[in-house]
Amino acid sequence: IPVDPFDLVIFGGTGDLARRKILPALFRRFCAGQMSPDTQIIAAARSALDTATYRGFVTEALNEFVPNRACEEGTLAGFLAIIDYVAIDATGKDGWETLVERIQGNRVRAFYFSVGPSLFAPLAERINSYGLSTQTSRIVVEKPFGHDLTSARALNAILADNFDESQIYRIDHYLGKETVQNLMAIRFGNMLFEPLWNSQYVDHIQITVAESVGVGGRGGYYDRAGAMRDMMQNHLMQLLCLIAMEPPAKFDPDAVRDEKLKVIRALDPVQPHHIVRGQYNAAPGDEDAHPSYREAVEDPRSTTESYIALKAHISNWRWANTPFYLRTGKRLVARSSVINVMFKDAPHAIFGQEAGRHANVLSIRLQPNEGITLKVTIKEPGPGGMRLLDVPLDMSFAEALGAEGEDPPDAYERLIVDVIRGNQTLFMRGDEVEAAWGWTDPIIAGWQARGDVPKPYDSGSTGPGDAELLMKRDGRKWQGINP
Ligand code: BG6
Repeated sequence: IPVDPFDLVIFGGTGDLARRKILPALFRRFCAGQMSPDTQIIAAARSALDTATYRGFVTEALNEFVPNRACEEGTLAGFLAIIDYVAIDATGKDGWETLVERIQGNRVRAFYFSVGPSLFAPLAERINSYGLSTQTSRIVVEKPFGHDLTSARALNAILADNFDESQIYRIDHYLGKETVQNLMAIRFGNMLFEPLWNSQYVDHIQITVAESVGVGGRGGYYDRAGAMRDMMQNHLMQLLCLIAMEPPAKFDPDAVRDEKLKVIRALDPVQPHHIVRGQYNAAPGDEDAHPSYREAVEDPRSTTESYIALKAHISNWRWANTPFYLRTGKRLVARSSVINVMFKDAPHAIFGQEAGRHANVLSIRLQPNEGITLKVTIKEPGPGGMRLLDVPLDMSFAEALGAEGEDPPDAYERLIVDVIRGNQTLFMRGDEVEAAWGWTDPIIAGWQARGDVPKPYDSGSTGPGDAELLMKRDGRKWQGINP
């Protein structure tokens, strides 16, 4: 369904996120016929470029990030025609009057803050003082949303001084992923799973977000963040919320976000011995292509973690006694994000099956190879007696939907369209972000107080051995990391 024409201003329009994600996502929606040619996209940044030069920048970005275009020839020209560039000084006066002239009228206008958090305040203030903020204005802000609870509160306060919460769209791009939204569809669109979705039937839940990439050229940012702030506080926390939350009464933004917030607030503080931090070594024999973490961030003494595994407890009626094991890391054996719901044993073993074998595991593969698998136990075929065998009921979303070979839409496509439509369901509310920092801050403070040093692990492995021990101590085991 096409969206009404709108104005979108991308602050940081020459930046990496605009190039890799925002512009490609807008272009794909344009190709799909969802954006009207009356739409206006204005990139705003410091460099003194003219619009023609900026359109050249956009063309290059699209050639690199949307190489196989399913849309007609000529579409690119149509897309470039709706793009404009304004050189702007985010902390001064230059360019603001020009921006005011370009956006007129009462249609939806969205301001995308694709810039560092230090520019949030000057941008928010200028949007207001130049009269750019209207009833139909929205602002989109990217992570990292703060560095800790104090800084997140300060950012929320700056935004709240200038905008209403209903105008603020805080992005966690994991919420825009098709399969992440599918977590809600699977849980609340079916009768089959929800009755079993509690500590009476679920032994534990594993959430793995493994990446094969290293920190690449982002060492400066990453070394100050680490896996805890970069991934756990936001993406994994959001997955945990969607898996653990109570069914909202309706699928509306506040109903969903209220339930997610309750999960975060019910999280127990994590015990220090329930956390494993790791940092990757160079790939043996391939040190040049895959240097160690410390080389990548150019600090031979860095104690920032590129891997984290932890055991979380949600103290509520549904999940008492069902631990959640979460892990994420860079330079692991494969890129693979999976949630495994590990069901309990049948109450009575009439076939003499061993305990703790997890006959039923529901695996929700978020990426790649999106789909779900349910492991079930059957009889091994043949006359050899009643021997049991585990087999997968396996469903690939692409196959089931007849979309093999097609990539699912990028998270940013969905999220940008939601901003324009005014749907905040897949965006984080201010209190949610603060609650998430409230849970991670004491963990990080504990490391600092103890001078904790992460455990080394080999590039291309499954992470530090201690993460296996975290499970083993509880008589459990991680499921494999398979692409
Ligand atoms: C980002 C993190 O938010 O998510 C990156 O800053 C990480 O470090 C990325 O690589 C992972 O996203 P995706 O969509 O590739 O799983």
